[in-house]
Amino acid sequence: MLIDSYDRVVDYLRVSVTERCNFRCQYCMPEKPFSWVPKENLLSFEELFEFMKVAIDEGVKKIRITGGEPLLREDLDKFIKMIYDYEPSIDLAMTTNAFLLKGTAQRLKNAGLKRINVSIDTLKPEVAQAIAGKDVLKNVLEGVEEARKVGLKVKVNMVPMKNMNADEIVDVLEYCKERDMSVRFIEYMENKFAKADISGLKSPELLDILRQKFEFEDEGFDGSSPSHYYRMIDGYRFGIIEPYGDDFCKQCNRIRLTAEGNLIPCLYFDEAMSIAESIKRGDIKGAAAVLKEVVRTKPEKNRWGGEDDEASNRAFYETGG
Ligand code: GTP
Ligand code: 5AD
Ligand code: SF4
Repeated sequence: MLIDSYDRVVDYLRVSVTERCNFRCQYCMPEKPFSWVPKENLLSFEELFEFMKVAIDEGVKKIRITGGEPLLREDLDKFIKMIYDYEPSIDLAMTTNAFLLKGTAQRLKNAGLKRINVSIDTLKPEVAQAIAGKDVLKNVLEGVEEARKVGLKVKVNMVPMKNMNADEIVDVLEYCKERDMSVRFIEYMENKFAKADISGLKSPELLDILRQKFEFEDEGFDGSSPSHYYRMIDGYRFGIIEPYGDDFCKQCNRIRLTAEGNLIPCLYFDEAMSIAESIKRGDIKGAAAVLKEVVRTKPEKNRWGGEDDEASNRAFYETGG
């Protein structure tokens, strides 16, 4: 079992398979980065899988494939199948923008994927175009429908922003509720890569808007999800993710691996240790030692860019949120 210095069990690994993305979301990657990680620096699926085995053997029980956009990486279903075949009980999930999901959902499900988290920031095509930089809504919604049809469990993420999609909070919630998909509203996280003038809604503002329409009770956190949950009278649950608070940190169980093999102990920290060399050498003990060291150094709480600096230095597309 992997236990950090604050007695938290680390059993959730988020694996980014590429930092590339086919969207240019204003809050994440409004411009194409100056350069992408060269393809030869990416770990192959075989190399990533070698590390997945180490992590599973050390006690990881939940693996989430992230990006950038993970579906840009060819043969992703084969990577998922490798993990599934090694340990079918793993809670195997993916976070995707859903653009390419319509043609891939069945294969992913057959390979062993259980759940997906998808961004639906708006139900208006022109707003989707403004947020993601291209006309994406039709593909996204069809991708989500296909995923549900093939039996993948779907959770929705929405980042509400003033003068953009804040007037659609109730509509997106109702869209999800009708389809029995849980929705989480994420407070915009400032970062040095986002468009400069974004103003995200904070949790009290979101709750005020939702209270005008619905009745619900505060349920608090649920397991290891970063989301604070609320339950309506009919049982439907929605969540709010407040990245600036540190309430969630007490039960944080996750570490992140980038596509180049950097292992990162916390979403907010710049520090990382690489497993790439050990894995490429076939040094399984070495990779396990790096994993344990990263878990040992997992910080107690989040921290943003630095003193008096609220913006993250790390690009979220590198680590998939
Ligand atoms: P499940 O709870 O398994 O559904 O997934 P998740 O919430 O971990 O995954 P998802 O990829 O959908 O992440 C949604 C958002 O949660 C991210 O964009 C972040 O805003 C937030 N989040 C993810 N990890 C952390 C974390 O370590 N700390 C905090 N505070 N927020 C996080
Ligand atoms: N602030 C809040 N949420 C973000 N995401 C990406 N960048 C940001 C940001 N700056 C969200 C996406 C996606 C999730 C993984 O991360 O909406 O659903
Ligand atoms: Fe948007 Fe996700 Fe791509 Fe970032 S990684 S630009 S949030 S779709």
